[in-house]
Amino acid sequence: MSIWFLLNGALVIWAAWNVVQSLAVHSVHHHILLGFAGFLLFIFNWTRNAVFATIRKVDDRAVKIKLARFSKKIMPYHRWIGTLSFVLIALHALTVIHLYGFNPGSMKILTGLLASVNLFILVLSGWYSQLIRHNLKSRRVHIGLGISMFILTALHLYF
Ligand code: HEM
Ligand code: HEM
Repeated sequence: MSIWFLLNGALVIWAAWNVVQSLAVHSVHHHILLGFAGFLLFIFNWTRNAVFATIRKVDDRAVKIKLARFSKKIMPYHRWIGTLSFVLIALHALTVIHLYGFNPGSMKILTGLLASVNLFILVLSGWYSQLIRHNLKSRRVHIGLGISMFILTALHLYF
């Protein structure tokens, strides 16, 4: 099993905890739920990394094949889940800015903004691999953007 399963699981629990707390103190909820929905779609796609890492690591051939088949089945949905994640996050950002105004001095807003830009480039890099060229370099860029997205999301939850 890859360490990424544990890291992703921990981030989901942390996000859910923050969401419950935010829902409890606010009378308006849609901006928080949009952020959580976009986050869940991101983490679902990012778990592909954990699955691939496990395929590379595990010795049992039967498990390797099972995981590879499973990951192939998910692939047609991967692109739309990633794209929808960005759409939901864009709506999250718009509703947040509508409610609180645009204040880049707030670390919550700043980290959210950086994470959104990261997500946009991540989605673009995915479409590039899908439609134009898929090689080692484009794959590395896609994974690198996934890792930085993970870190920026953690920072966004922290502040
Ligand atoms: C410009 C972009 C963004 C802005 C301005 C922004 C701003 C905010 C703010 C102000 C809150 C607190 C809501 C409240 O409790 O009143 C929040 C919550 C949240 N955001 Fe974002 N965000 C952005 C992008 C993102 C991204 C990229 C993700 C994840 C993929 C995300 C996920 C969440 C989640 C899960 C919550 C609820 C948990 C919590 O309150 O910490 N947001 N966001
Ligand atoms: C939330 C956004 C996304 C995340 C977190 C994400 C994550 C990943 C991960 C972890 C992999 C496996 C990398 C590897 O080890 O080779 C992958 C592969 C890939 N992704 Fe994404 N992705 C996202 C969005 C997209 C989008 C929007 C597309 C658009 C078509 C896309 C296209 C691809 C392609 C073509 C591959 C290679 C498939 C393969 O080698 O089996 N991704 N993505």
